[in-house]
Amino acid sequence: MEKLMRKFFLFLSNNKFFTRLAKKYGLRCGAGRFVAGETIEDAAAAIKKLNEKGLVVTLDHLGEFVDNEEEARERTEECIKAIKVIGEQQLDSQLSLKMTSMGLDISDELVMENMRKILEAGKKHNVFITIDMEDYARCGKTLDIFKQLKKEYDGLGTVLQSYLYRTVDDIQELNVYKPNLRLVKGAYKESPEVAYPNKADVDENLKKIIKIHLLNGNYTAVASHDDHMIEYTKELVKEHNIPNDQFEFQMLYGIRAEKQEELVKEGYKMRVYVPYGNDWYGYFMRRLAERPANVAFILKGIFKK
Ligand code: FDA
Repeated sequence: MEKLMRKFFLFLSNNKFFTRLAKKYGLRCGAGRFVAGETIEDAAAAIKKLNEKGLVVTLDHLGEFVDNEEEARERTEECIKAIKVIGEQQLDSQLSLKMTSMGLDISDELVMENMRKILEAGKKHNVFITIDMEDYARCGKTLDIFKQLKKEYDGLGTVLQSYLYRTVDDIQELNVYKPNLRLVKGAYKESPEVAYPNKADVDENLKKIIKIHLLNGNYTAVASHDDHMIEYTKELVKEHNIPNDQFEFQMLYGIRAEKQEELVKEGYKMRVYVPYGNDWYGYFMRRLAERPANVAFILKGIFKK
């Protein structure tokens, strides 16, 4: 049943009709638990509150799969605006983005031009940029662009997904760049030809890549709500005397907030991924797919109002 619900929500996350409908009717249906609002002002207020609790942030302007140049340029401007707000209000926040929003599917020239504009703004305001990893079809291209831009800009990182077979090779290949990487299990629906179909293998592979990246001496963001991964990382760093400033934990806004604060109290760096914007539908559906139990929580929220 859970598998069926997961498939259902992943199908909905990609559906253009429902995406349009969601944009029109705004942040309802309980999405507000996972999304910090529709405007950069809403997001800045949410970041301030998190910063006050000792949590650091990576801010994400929601949106993906843009298929026209005008929209890609608008999304780029939105990222630049967010970077300026972070810099001017001295928020402790980085920025995350999806390259499909910057024109990845439209042309190489467009995506590179937009990425360079964003990275220039990041450099000016001292805001680190992470390229989120999208589906398998775009993984190779995302990493190629990352490698190219990493030669030009220091303040850039990306994400690797432990469900992909290719990731163990990718992490070793990327080692020459000494990159700051976020390591995750992976959120998209992939074929068993390219990704582990069993959760146990995905979990084992996440542990494996956390170990490789940390022991290679690189900055590692362990992005998981899974206590096993958190405990594994704590033990690993202790065993190998890895200092607290070589790694951090990351979790999503609205998920396990108490655990996030607990990790801060224990002295770990804890970064919260804060999404905002009116294109929240695909993101929200993927969160429901990950944990169908959230549906019950959200339904309760709707009926309480
Ligand atoms: P998983 O879903 O396997 O759950 C394991 C355990 O965690 C559960 O059994 C439960 O104990 C606990 N748990 C999970 N959710 C909970 C909840 N709501 N309440 C209480 N306990 C809960 N993916 C991607 O493909 N590309 C990307 O760029 C990113 N970026 C990203 C950034 C950040 C900061 C995070 C945290 C995640 C991503 N992801 C991602 C998503 C990631 O790939 C993955 O889909 C989710 O994090 C879910 O996997 P987990 O490792 O969190 O645990």
